[in-house]
Amino acid sequence: MAVLVTGGAGYIGSHMVWELLDNGEDVVVLDNLVTGFQWAVAEKAKLIVGNVGDQYLVESIIRDHKIDCIIHFAGSVVVPESLEDPIKYYDNNTANSLRLIAAAVNTGISKFIFSSTAAVYGAPENSGPIAEDAVLNPMSPYGSSKLMTEIMVRDAEKAHGLAYVMLRYFNVAGADYKGRTGQSTTGATHLIKIACEAALGKREYMNVFGTDYDTPDGSCVRDYIHVSDLVNAHYTALGFLRNGGRKFTANCGYAKGYSVLEVIEAVKRVSGTDFPVIFDERRAGDPPSLTANANRLMRRLNWQPKHNDLDRIVADALGWEAKIDGLKKSA
Ligand code: UFG
Repeated sequence: MAVLVTGGAGYIGSHMVWELLDNGEDVVVLDNLVTGFQWAVAEKAKLIVGNVGDQYLVESIIRDHKIDCIIHFAGSVVVPESLEDPIKYYDNNTANSLRLIAAAVNTGISKFIFSSTAAVYGAPENSGPIAEDAVLNPMSPYGSSKLMTEIMVRDAEKAHGLAYVMLRYFNVAGADYKGRTGQSTTGATHLIKIACEAALGKREYMNVFGTDYDTPDGSCVRDYIHVSDLVNAHYTALGFLRNGGRKFTANCGYAKGYSVLEVIEAVKRVSGTDFPVIFDERRAGDPPSLTANANRLMRRLNWQPKHNDLDRIVADALGWEAKIDGLKKSA
């Protein structure tokens, strides 16, 4: 029996592979290596280069490797890009997921864990932590493409018994706490990675997108979750499904928000460096404030975060950022 990790050469997927291997699982990775890196896949995992939307390929992988669960990360993840190129998002996230779900159903797979997102909520009316039963109203094609997949998975459970866990991530950041993998994406747009690049002199300055939001300091507030805690939530979800759990949707976050300005301060503090920050216009598609009510995940799956500290997240992200250039050159 093995677990199939789609997108296992990417940022979160490569951490998931380590989490599974650390727990003695056999792992098969399916990744097209468009944004992922072959060297990011732990050697003990089997890497197959291909497309999640290639239903024939996925069905043969499931049969050949006796897959018992699919953990689906592969997809496009940049909110502003999705506004400029929605078709790419509906293709990579929705259409490919449909073919993957079809492959799972055809081969009798009964366990599916899906990487969903807080972007399914859009811009919540209240600034407090948001629970799973809140109105789903995505404000970007990224969020819509993920919500559509949630709907497909739910319908596949009803009609075909595809048991599922769908985890709605808030802002994932940091790097493997053991330093084995991290966020290696080129041209990254995510706040903590960008601030770390600025702290290490890889960029001359960074921008703050919007300082006139209705938030305590005017910049956007997000709930940053350490990637090692996030993948541990997936491993917990795997146990839930293996113990007969049928369907579960939950937020992944810490119920604690930090503003963009607070995050930049943390990066300056932890790195001991200063760098120029330019106050810029709002970025399209950004909700002012998003924090998770994570009670459901903690109570029902007994998930306990271990790295819920902003400085810890930043320190691990900085450690990886300092290491990464050498790794890319030697790959
Ligand atoms: N930001 C800046 N400057 C930068 C980069 C980002 O000010 O150089 C700001 C953004 O405008 C936003 C905040 O930092 O206000 C966080 O932006 P990110 O790009 O880091 O993350 P997003 O909140 O846009 O999106 C992330 C994930 C999505 C997920 C979402 C849920 O990419 O997958 O969090 O909150 F859905």
